[in-house]
Amino acid sequence: MSTLRIETAPVFAPLLAAARYKGIHGGRGSGKSHFFAECAIERCLLAPGTRIVCVREIQKSLKDSVKRLIEDKLEALGVKQLFVVHSDRIKTPGDGLIIFQGLQDHTAESIKSLEGFDVAWVEEAQTLSARSLELLRPTIRKAGSELWFGWNPRSKSDPVDQLLRGLTPPPGAIVVEANSNTNPFFPRELEEERRFDRQTNPDRYAHIWLGAYEPSAVGAIWTRQNLHENRSAKAPSMERIVISVDPAVSNQAHSDEHGIVACGLGADQRGYVIDDVSLKGSPRQWAERAIATYDRYNADAIVIEINQGGDMVRHTLTSIRPGIRIIEVRATRGKHVRAEPISALYALGRVSHVGTFAELEDQMCKMTAAGFEGEGSPDRVDALVWGFTELFPAMTMINSDAQAEIRHDFDPYA
Ligand SMILES: Nc1ncnc2c1ncn2[C@@H]1O[C@H](COP(=O)(O)OP(=O)(O)O)[C@@H](O)[C@H]1O
Ligand SMILES: [Mg+2]
Repeated sequence: MSTLRIETAPVFAPLLAAARYKGIHGGRGSGKSHFFAECAIERCLLAPGTRIVCVREIQKSLKDSVKRLIEDKLEALGVKQLFVVHSDRIKTPGDGLIIFQGLQDHTAESIKSLEGFDVAWVEEAQTLSARSLELLRPTIRKAGSELWFGWNPRSKSDPVDQLLRGLTPPPGAIVVEANSNTNPFFPRELEEERRFDRQTNPDRYAHIWLGAYEPSAVGAIWTRQNLHENRSAKAPSMERIVISVDPAVSNQAHSDEHGIVACGLGADQRGYVIDDVSLKGSPRQWAERAIATYDRYNADAIVIEINQGGDMVRHTLTSIRPGIRIIEVRATRGKHVRAEPISALYALGRVSHVGTFAELEDQMCKMTAAGFEGEGSPDRVDALVWGFTELFPAMTMINSDAQAEIRHDFDPYA
């Protein structure tokens, strides 16, 4: 009999006891993943035959999983010879196993295959849907089984937050908050990243590194909850796709970004945000980016705001791609007034983001009925609003005097 010593950050000590629910919330680099990986290995060694499923909401491939981390840990702890690593699973002592799955791929039937498991370890648990959480909880039912959750909080409304940090967490749940300053192993490389973000990305710093909820303005016309609830992993077939552009006025060093967003109208008549490829740069750079995006998504038009000069904008685009279909729009009302009919579409559950667009979503959650509360100008939101105004003309007509927008389709080859 030999002894295996695993050094553990003091902040995680409460989690070394048995509990049905264990949670760690905190920012990047707090040691959440490393700690649970060590717990998983320890349990496999102490209780031969242990079966562990490592899950996340979406797992497109094993590369998204913690498999590699566990392999590295086995090596670092010097116990690799007791495990057998296969391409998609790890055999553990006493005929146990560790597997890796995406919960989104499970149905009420297929999830039953996990009933004999001892531990479900959920990574990036902030992205867990209510459905996945409801599927998972009763499935892990073996005597002494445990559910482990590691997450960086996005919003109080995220299901994992409601479960483990809400008013009535499950009895006996052990939840700790960890951060980089409680991680004795915090590496120098990440420390440099952290400092850099603190300087260059102050808006998101507290969320990314301190585990604070994502920033939102009071009275915002979009909510994190709505964005998260409607998010989808992939787009359905599309009836129309437009690339909409809100070009910045100048391209000086500190000037605004050019908002460039790909929006689609699905065959299901819902709206989809497909991409956000906004950038800072010269007119030629935004035009090239917009056209590349137009090609990538096989879009049917570029929607562009021409307040700063229609001829110039048109020329910039057509000099790169003669004959490209351009829909020109001119703003006559304030940004937030234009945004409201589109936020109403979201409130009706009619728009999904295909994936996560952190910067765009931050801007959206700082748009209030009184204006934009973030720094600079909400160019990404502007582009999005123009895109959906084009794709949902009826919606925006009902809600505003759309006649006030001078709009015409421009096709020099038509
Ligand atoms: N137990 C540990 N042993 C060695 N290094 C660790 C340990 N825990 C954390 N680290 C170091 O800290 C970094 C961040 O830990 P990680 O678990 O990836 O954090 P999180 O999952 O909270 O983002 C790791 O990349 C590693 O360098
Ligand atoms: Mg992690």
